[in-house]
Amino acid sequence: MARHKVTVIGAGNVGATTAQRIAEAGLADVVLVDIVEGLPQGKGLDLAEAAPVVGHDARISGTNDYADTAGSDIVVVTSGLARQPGMSRDDLLAKNAGIVRSVVEQAAKHSPDSVLIVVTNPLDAMCHVALQASGFPRERVLGMAGVLDSARFRTFIAEELGVSVEDTHAFVLGGHGDTMVPLSRYSTVAGVPITELLPPDRVKALEERTANGGAEVVALLKTGSAFYAPAASTFEMVESILHDRKRVLPCAILLQGEFKTRDLFVGVPVVLGAAGMERVFEIELTDEEQAAFDRSAAAVSELVAKLG
Ligand code: NAI
Ligand code: 2OP
Repeated sequence: MARHKVTVIGAGNVGATTAQRIAEAGLADVVLVDIVEGLPQGKGLDLAEAAPVVGHDARISGTNDYADTAGSDIVVVTSGLARQPGMSRDDLLAKNAGIVRSVVEQAAKHSPDSVLIVVTNPLDAMCHVALQASGFPRERVLGMAGVLDSARFRTFIAEELGVSVEDTHAFVLGGHGDTMVPLSRYSTVAGVPITELLPPDRVKALEERTANGGAEVVALLKTGSAFYAPAASTFEMVESILHDRKRVLPCAILLQGEFKTRDLFVGVPVVLGAAGMERVFEIELTDEEQAAFDRSAAAVSELVAKLG
């Protein structure tokens, strides 16, 4: 089988952990890129030196030069700043938009046929920047958030019911923020909706914990945000694309009328295969769910408007 190549931009917590997962699964050769000299090279070398012990033959390297990323099948974008004291959300939006624009322009030039997976926050707005900067069709610009948010919901459901996470499925749609939409009616244990297994107040509590999932980890870590579950979630998307598995996963995509939304990146279930987003997996929403989805889309739209 031909070797696949994945570029991961940003050799910080999410980027390096994603690179480790991809290499250690033997899924693809990985090129780590960062603006800091030595950081991607050092982490790349360290990861390569783990290979004999772990037992894989994926090549992993680090660089500051986009020429080394040429011909990648997938480019994962995790580069960005975390919010610093004194920095407003809008400052962060502008700064990360600048970073995402510049890295995507360079990466897209060297890998014009790649699929982009954006991770940098604010996620849905950064997807808009990546779409514009790459000039790629919407099928090849995806945002990672729904898999993570759904994984958090699954964790909390499984814990509440004392069952395996493997038999627990969940769907979280909408933007990656406070207004995300955990769909409890479609969230199941062994096929049974959790709305039939738990009282409404417990369902609501789990939904709220999910929407607050990122902040819960930040409050504990104090310096930095979650990266193990985000990296695992990004890996799941990469794997579905490289192995053309057609997994149905919630991803941020540019909606073109689906879910009654147009020209906006919002998280919805999609079929992920070799071509990237191969199909939007439309599901029926109740009026109440659609209203929650619309509120979430409006929050994304507000951020996108600030990008100008
Ligand atoms: P981090 O601070 O550990 O890593 C970010 C890296 O980006 C740093 O190594 C930095 O040097 C690099 N970088 C900055 N500017 C760059 C440029 N112009 N070119 C190349 N590299 C550059 O941060 P972490 O924890 O890895 O998070 C990365 C991003 O992912 C953040 O924006 C975070 O909010 C977001 N995130 C999103 C999630 C989601 O569900 N979509 C989940 C977790 C994190
Ligand atoms: C999270 O949800 C920070 O977006 C990141 O953990």
